Amino acid sequence: MELRVEADPASVAIWVADQLLSYWRGPLQANPGTARPLGLATGRTMEPVYAVLVQRWKALTAEQRPAPSSWRSFNLDEYVGLAAGDGRSFQAFMHHHLRGPLGLDPACLQLPDGMAADPAQEASRYATAVAASGGIGLQLLGLGLNGHVGFNEPPCGPEARCRCLALSDSTRHQNAEAFGGDPEAVPSQAITLGLAEILEAQRILLVVTGKAKASVLRRLLEDPPGVDLPASWLRRHPDATVIADRAAAP
Ligand code: GLP
Repeated sequence: MELRVEADPASVAIWVADQLLSYWRGPLQANPGTARPLGLATGRTMEPVYAVLVQRWKALTAEQRPAPSSWRSFNLDEYVGLAAGDGRSFQAFMHHHLRGPLGLDPACLQLPDGMAADPAQEASRYATAVAASGGIGLQLLGLGLNGHVGFNEPPCGPEARCRCLALSDSTRHQNAEAFGGDPEAVPSQAITLGLAEILEAQRILLVVTGKAKASVLRRLLEDPPGVDLPASWLRRHPDATVIADRAAAP
C-alpha cells in the first residue's frame, strides 16, 4: 500500500479531487455505459475534496468539461430510517456537495435507500446494481476512528459483503456532530458496501486527515491485517493509496 503525504487537508483535497476529475474526464467520459463507476464516501474529510472537484470542473472550458450525464457513481453507505429529505442523510450530503453543484441526474449518483421497507433486501439490491455496473473503478474512502471503512465496523473480515448492520457506539459518537451532538440521535443501523466489494475496486484512495486519525492510521500501516481494524485489509489490495496530511501521517 502506497503512502502519500501532503502538507494539509487543502493540499490533500486538491490531489484527490484531481484523481476524481481525471477518472471522470478519462474512463467515464470515454466509455459511457461500460466504464466502471466511481465509489464515493461521505464525511467531513470529503467536504473539501468535493468542493475542489466542483471548483476545478467549473474552471474548465465548455470543451474540456465532462458532461454531467457521463458521471457514474455508487456511494458506500447510508443510514437506515432517516426520513426522505432529512438533511443528515448521506443522500442529502451528496446532493448538497456534488449532485446540486454539478447538476447530476439522481440516476448517475446512487446510494443505498435508507428508507427501504426491508433494509436487508435493499442491501442485496444495491450489491446487485454495483455488480451489474462491473464493480467499482476508483474507490474513495474515509477512515473511521475505530478503523471502519464505509460502515464496516470491527470485527470485520475481507469477505464481508454489502449488508445492513448495527453501528457501533464509537461510530455513533464520531458522527454525533450532525445530530446535535447526541450519539443516541444517530441512527442505530446503516447499509454499507462490504469490504469484499471495496477490495474488488480497481483502485482505492483512502483519505485521512487530522491529528485525531494519527493513531488509527499508524496501526493500519504497521499491524498485520486483522478483523479488529477493518481498513487494514486494504493492505492486501494491489493498487491502494493512503493519502494523508502531515497531522495524520506517522
Ligand atoms: C463515516 C462514514 C465513512 C466516512 C468515515 C469518516 O462514518 N460511514 O464513509 O468516511 O466515517 O468520517 P469523517 O470524514 O467525518 O471523519
